Amino acid sequence: MNKQTKAIGPFKQLLSMSNLPLKGALQDEQLEVLEEVGILVKDGVIVEILPFTTLQDKCKNEAIPLEYLEGNYTAMPGMVDVHTHICWGGARARDYAMRVAGKPYLEIAKAGGGIWDSVQKTRAASEAILTEKVVQRANKLLQNGTTTIEVKTGYGLTVADELKMLHSIHQANSKVSADLVPTCLPAHIVPKDFEGDGMAYVEHLLHDFFPKVKAKKLSNRADIFVEESAFNHTQARIYLTGVQAMGFDITIHADQFTAGSSLLGVEFKAVSVDHLEASTAKEVAALAQSDVIPVALPGASLGLGCAFTPARKLLDAGTSLAIATDWNPGSAPMGDLITQAAILGAFEKLSMAETLAGVTFRAAKALNLTNRGRIAAGQLADIVAFPTADYREILYYQGQLRPSFVWKEGIKC
Ligand code: NIG
Ligand code: FE
Repeated sequence: MNKQTKAIGPFKQLLSMSNLPLKGALQDEQLEVLEEVGILVKDGVIVEILPFTTLQDKCKNEAIPLEYLEGNYTAMPGMVDVHTHICWGGARARDYAMRVAGKPYLEIAKAGGGIWDSVQKTRAASEAILTEKVVQRANKLLQNGTTTIEVKTGYGLTVADELKMLHSIHQANSKVSADLVPTCLPAHIVPKDFEGDGMAYVEHLLHDFFPKVKAKKLSNRADIFVEESAFNHTQARIYLTGVQAMGFDITIHADQFTAGSSLLGVEFKAVSVDHLEASTAKEVAALAQSDVIPVALPGASLGLGCAFTPARKLLDAGTSLAIATDWNPGSAPMGDLITQAAILGAFEKLSMAETLAGVTFRAAKALNLTNRGRIAAGQLADIVAFPTADYREILYYQGQLRPSFVWKEGIKC
């Protein structure tokens, strides 16, 4: 890590995302858009944002190195992708072909495709191969402006294979500039090894998997897919009670096809509930009374050809909202946060402030991280610069305007 003090600029515009609330609807007028400014960084952390001419003088007088940017750029905080499954082996183009030809997702799973297919291929992959895959995918996200990436397990579904996935994620974390945040998702589906006995599998995880994860400090987050094809509410309650008692933060794949499981998120004070494509007014109202962060996954809606998360209704009810890629080999193969966030915004009528908040500080909060997601003194210098003098173009081009530069803790990636 470069411990030097340094300056970066100039930026035609800088979206600080400062002074915006964690919850509720936002209007673009609330965005702080600074013009002709630069950023002073020390030890990877933002010291201050100054008018560029002032910063230039300071650099001259105090012999501070300046990373001078030729051209017109708009800076915003490095994005945070709070929901990915980028640790997997194999590919599932066959599933996609069947889906677009009309076969439903759950039927494809019953016919030997789906999550179980990826489980077999991930079990067959070595830790080194999986690590390489995570590195490649994380670097693609990073290039496109994402500096913090959550990564789930969930394609191992044995103690050894889930631990292998966690080790790969940690290995990859040491090889990429982005921060990778590992989440345990051993309760993705009931593995065939347990012959449909979900309760026995949950008990096995609580006794034989999570204590190891905790002892080795491999993750402090636990996820579960609550759905007819995965785990029911009774099994989920046992699982959530167990992991919570061990100190894991909870996140849930909720209300993807059937409404109701997000209410478990409220009951267990989950950090986030993700998907919510099937949520009704009842779930929206309950979430609005809680601190749980709803996470929209437009990539899964696009990959499955189904409804978007009711983001507008959630925000109007007063919830926060994060937007993530759900990048995985099945339901969401695209893995492009800015494209998906822009499309969700267009369909759900989100202000640019709401969409950008959903991929920055509101997303960071869904990972319990408060040291990133805004460009402000004391925040990590995780910054992305787009080649434009008008911040609105970032979403306007729906993903086709790519970042020119990405900095992770002040270092250009
Ligand atoms: O978030 N819904 C469950 N899990 C993933 C899909 C994983 C897969 O199809 O491989 C999701 O969409
Ligand atoms: Fe997912």
